Amino acid sequence: PSVPVVTIDGPSGVGKGTVARALSRRLHWHLLDSGALYRILALAAQRDGVPLDDSARVAALAPRLNIVFSAAADAEAILVDGVDVTAQVRLETTGGLASQIAAVPQIRAALLQRQRDFMQPPGLVADGRDMGTIVFPEAPLKIFLDASAEERARRRFRQLRDAGKPARLDGLCAEIRARDLRDRQRATAPLQAADDAVVIDTTHISADSVFAQVVDLLAARG
Ligand code: C5P
Repeated sequence: PSVPVVTIDGPSGVGKGTVARALSRRLHWHLLDSGALYRILALAAQRDGVPLDDSARVAALAPRLNIVFSAAADAEAILVDGVDVTAQVRLETTGGLASQIAAVPQIRAALLQRQRDFMQPPGLVADGRDMGTIVFPEAPLKIFLDASAEERARRRFRQLRDAGKPARLDGLCAEIRARDLRDRQRATAPLQAADDAVVIDTTHISADSVFAQVVDLLAARG
């Protein structure tokens, strides 16, 4: 309880990761990218030939994985059982697989403790879908970022284009809508703002400005 936590929740492509990373750097706090854990678990199941709908076996994998987030100054890497899976983790298709297993209560429960283990001094910035509602309900500052699906697809499109990867805006928009629907409508830990979250609609504001707002909110609470 003495370790402060800032939670940043919201739908896919809203820029949670960017804001969370910038904030953790500014504060020198730990960072939890909870979506990466769901992505990593889905990839590990595939690696081991475990069908994604065999929830008991997928869940059983969760505590056994050796996961290392290495955050060097410019390059960030994710190692799972010694293998660099950074590129696979970030694939749009992997996000889809993650959202399938994320609908299963048993799998969410299996990842709960792993997520809470990130709560280490001097503090934690955690981004995801249920950071403020389920994983860190005591967090003193909860942010919920939102933006229209079209705008989120445009941001993702620009990211991919800048990385030299071909993409289609209409396809991205459809993927984002499908994932949103699954994340919002599931029975367990659906995507929703905590009652005490500050909701920021980022459709018309830049990442820098969102970051500045969050820093101000934190200063006002601290
Ligand atoms: O945030 P990201 O796109 O990496 O998350 C991938 C998927 O993992 C989401 O679509 C969501 O279904 C699931 N997820 C979740 N709870 C979290 C983080 C991610 O259900 N805290």
